[in-house]
Amino acid sequence: MFVVFLSISNERSIFICLILQNSLVWHYTNCIKKTPMKKNILITGAASGLGRAIANLYANKGWNILVVDIQDELGQTFVNELNNNGKSAEYYHCDIGHKQSFDDLALAISVKHKCIDILVNNAGVASAGTLASTTEAEWKKLIDLDLMSVIYGTMAMLPLLMKSKKAHIVSTASFAGIALMPGMMSYNVAKAGVIAFSETLHGEMALHNIGVSVACPAFFQTNLVSSMTGASEKTKGFIDKQMQTSGITADDVATDIYKAVEKNTFMVISHKESRRQYLIKRLFPNFVLKKKIQLFKQMMKSIK
Ligand SMILES: NC(=O)c1ccc[n+]([C@@H]2O[C@H](COP(=O)([O-])OP(=O)(O)OC[C@H]3O[C@@H](n4cnc5c(N)ncnc54)[C@H](O)[C@@H]3O)[C@@H](O)[C@H]2O)c1
Repeated sequence: MFVVFLSISNERSIFICLILQNSLVWHYTNCIKKTPMKKNILITGAASGLGRAIANLYANKGWNILVVDIQDELGQTFVNELNNNGKSAEYYHCDIGHKQSFDDLALAISVKHKCIDILVNNAGVASAGTLASTTEAEWKKLIDLDLMSVIYGTMAMLPLLMKSKKAHIVSTASFAGIALMPGMMSYNVAKAGVIAFSETLHGEMALHNIGVSVACPAFFQTNLVSSMTGASEKTKGFIDKQMQTSGITADDVATDIYKAVEKNTFMVISHKESRRQYLIKRLFPNFVLKKKIQLFKQMMKSIK
């Protein structure tokens, strides 16, 4: 035990008696001087594509990355690579189509971490097809994996986000959810739902000082086509070509998402052409409706 007397002024002698117990000294050296805890970002679908690009970006900025995916081997190998390169990452298995999987995930994370600072609802699958060609099973799969997953993920992680000093929720929709081109029925509906959910959430979370952003990229190269249902080989080839020639990479989209979180921007549209189309759609909605019919007819001819 130590007793320290400090004489501060002659006019008025003030003695401050500090009694420092050995336990307090221990507390100072072990807790106060300790380097600050890393911030946690949880990214679904981080084993591949855009999720992986976002994970790499935040790992390079010193964040702890919670990689969530269904491809366990790929996800764990990625996490090992990050940790072997001096970054900080953990792998968690979660099938995003089930609410229970997210509840189990939140429990597993809360055992290790006090809070999550950024949630990225990114994992998803692709589909193509008109109303006539989409089966009930395909509808259910798409709505579960591309829309309900975002809702389940946000519901489950909200208590952990609320414990962060500065939290943010990002969801990956798609420009498909704005363009609403014919022939991509279930994907369009699910992604438009993600945009509607995010905009509603943006207002609700403002009361809790939690930022909300929605990413609406057009095509960029990833493994998304391999998860595509309801599409012929010709359609898959067409989409693959669009991805290869888009001029925007997963890293570009990840950088835009990073900037949006920093500036608390809601809508993230990476492709210049998409930003132009979005403006035209708002200014001239009837012109765009007619144009979509023309384009759809041309597209159906080209993939026949
Ligand atoms: N690539 C594009 O052109 C493009 C354009 C617009 C939007 N998006 C969206 O970007 C997001 C990321 O896709 P991507 O392009 O990186 O594709 P990707 O296939 O490379 O990555 C998707 C990841 O999600 C994971 N995933 C799929 N189903 C899952 C499940 N049930 N549970 C847990 N994880 C699951 C996959 O294992 C994979 O790691 C998706 O939501 C997609 O719709 C992609």
